[in-house]
Amino acid sequence: MSEKKFPEGFLWGAATASYQVEGGIENCDWAKAAREGRVPVCGRACEHYTRYEEDFDMAKNLGHNAHRFSVEWARIEPVEGQFDEGEIEHYRTVLKALQARGITPFVTLWHFTLPLWFSESGGFERKDSPEIFARYCAFVVSRLGDLCENFSTINEPSVYGSNGWLRGSWPPFKRFALTDLVAITNSGRSFEGKPTRGLSPLFLWRRVMKNLAKGHNRAYEEIKKVRPNTNINFVHHVIVFDANWNPFNKLAAWFANWNWTHVFMKRTKGHYDSIGLNYYFYTQFGDTRQWRKTDMDWNFAPEKIYDALMILKRYKKPIYISEAGLADAADSGRAEYITKQVDAAWRAIQAGVDIKAHIYWSLLDNYEWALGFEKRFGLVEVDYTTLERKPRPSAYVYKAICEANAIVE
Ligand code: BGC
Repeated sequence: MSEKKFPEGFLWGAATASYQVEGGIENCDWAKAAREGRVPVCGRACEHYTRYEEDFDMAKNLGHNAHRFSVEWARIEPVEGQFDEGEIEHYRTVLKALQARGITPFVTLWHFTLPLWFSESGGFERKDSPEIFARYCAFVVSRLGDLCENFSTINEPSVYGSNGWLRGSWPPFKRFALTDLVAITNSGRSFEGKPTRGLSPLFLWRRVMKNLAKGHNRAYEEIKKVRPNTNINFVHHVIVFDANWNPFNKLAAWFANWNWTHVFMKRTKGHYDSIGLNYYFYTQFGDTRQWRKTDMDWNFAPEKIYDALMILKRYKKPIYISEAGLADAADSGRAEYITKQVDAAWRAIQAGVDIKAHIYWSLLDNYEWALGFEKRFGLVEVDYTTLERKPRPSAYVYKAICEANAIVE
């Protein structure tokens, strides 16, 4: 029997995001888009807003000692510049519930959904959006920072920008007309409504990406003024773009990695204490292999998280694997996927990458954005009629890893 041990103090857990699980959020851009029939209705989702204690009990029983969740901007700042202390109190109670179970929290300040007042006035296209975002972030950390050390400002800037302004599949549904020519892939299927098509989304996308980086940098500075000891990062979705032997493909892969991952890292240089890595996707230009697929139709390539970690190694910061997982309703490949992925993370540690945590996406089945509730990412299955929760068999395979702090073979 061989044992692949992880460093002492390594953190294991799962993640959720407010809009995808909480339920009852109506004053944000996604809820509005749903009312307009442009994306599926989220409604009560998993009612995690009221059932979080039960969910954290489950996480605890499944061996987790860390948990990542997001706070909902639309709840906390429902009107521009006006903060709701009642909602802050709610999230304080959530943090205390984690604390009581000995689970280390990771709070994401913004995970895709925007308050209506902000999205309707231009969102991240607005010139003053970096300041607006930084004010919100600093406020939240000033109120929650005594209960949590780890905060992520933005979840997946590259995904947000490309789905909103290049593919046009997410609010604000702007589609760059030439997007069809290149492979930008995240949410599985293109939105079937009518995005605004044209060339201008490309310029708006560039502006949004710059404002996101500025917003993060500003937020980092403002947060450090109020809570200097917090660990601040943003969560980066790293797609591994690879190439076969063909030099043109190699060039294409280099450019894709540069554009998707490195540009944002450069723009935020000096403004992060660590990096959050979300890994889902490996693609190779010129690939002729027939890949086994997940329910999202993504290549089943858990071991390639190693390449994603190597892509980030050069930034010489601690890395938290903040999301990694797959949609697998039958739960037929999840245990294998997790084990292979954790094994790859272990190999990356041996190769000198400073990894602090592995957080699976997701604790619960949830609202998978433009794809609604059909895709099942959860360690825990949710019956959407009764909202009953039931851990899947793979959750126990992950539990064994979490509790041993090792892969035992
Ligand atoms: C996002 C999650 C999403 C998951 C699966 C990530 O891009 O952060 O919100 O549910 O991927 O698609």
